[in-house]
Amino acid sequence: MQRRKFLKNSTTAAAAVISVPFINSCQEEVTIPKKLAKTIRPIAICTWNFENATAKAWQVLKEGGSSLDAVQQGAMIEEADVNNQTVGVGGRPDRDGNVTLDACIMDKDGNCGAVLAMQNIASPVSVARKVMEETPHVMLAGKGAEKFAYEQGFEKTNLLTEQSKKEWLEWKKTSQYKPIINIENHDTIGILAIDKKGDISGACTTSGMGYKYAGRVGDSPIIGAGLFVDNEIGAATATGVGEEVVRTVGSFLIVELMRQGKSPQEACEEGVKRIMAKNKDRTDFQIGFIAINKNGETGGYCIQPGFTYRTYSEEGHIDNSSMSFLKG
Ligand code: GLY
Repeated sequence: MQRRKFLKNSTTAAAAVISVPFINSCQEEVTIPKKLAKTIRPIAICTWNFENATAKAWQVLKEGGSSLDAVQQGAMIEEADVNNQTVGVGGRPDRDGNVTLDACIMDKDGNCGAVLAMQNIASPVSVARKVMEETPHVMLAGKGAEKFAYEQGFEKTNLLTEQSKKEWLEWKKTSQYKPIINIENHDTIGILAIDKKGDISGACTTSGMGYKYAGRVGDSPIIGAGLFVDNEIGAATATGVGEEVVRTVGSFLIVELMRQGKSPQEACEEGVKRIMAKNKDRTDFQIGFIAINKNGETGGYCIQPGFTYRTYSEEGHIDNSSMSFLKG
């Protein structure tokens, strides 16, 4: 096996260069260089147009807070918004009328926590963080997650708003599940951040597919599928039909593609193409990926038009709705 070694770190006035060392399958160190005009940090990025979430995350980052606090507090904004029917309080229920929430969080050291199909707790991302920090486990599901949340001091909350209840009762008249692209009832928030120290964290939270089978869990709380963070490389998160993201372990794939030298944009495009390679004749669903690398370079890509993502850094609070998509 020949030893491959690429350029090592060097910095010029014009360009910051990051090298990403890793051990290949032959246990040899390989270092891939990545040139950027400049390093952007701190920075927050989130799926869809959740501008209040990125604004909150940016506030935390700007004041010197950690990326972990930034992603949690950003995600909590959407979880608390009763008008957002895809996340947290006010989320659409399953077909039995129960709102069940999924969330996960991951930090710079690869620590992670998740809750799956949890009822009656308003901020699943906060419980996920407690799972990460207070237990030896990664995931807690259902009644166990809820019980743990109460033990941690979370209050019981009715998550089903009058609006979501009204729509569910209407849906029950036909009980047909027909997703409409971009309003497929699962506009998950995935949020990634790099803090002033250069450390990366991510969080993902959702009420999942509206009117799903009781107990259905999508990609959002699954580390590697809905979210993945590698502090050496970058992070990625997903929104859309979770089943397809799980099948390709989408967020992990995107981080690995960045490790191999792709930009966040290129990696997101490849991630979407891998999904469509397994769904050649399907035009009826949406997936969106966003990603960030260690330098604060970002990217996003989706199957259908209509997806967008937000970034917030010293360069401003940007809605990337002019992003490209596969089926254009
Ligand atoms: N992406 C969210 C879900 O499928 O539940």
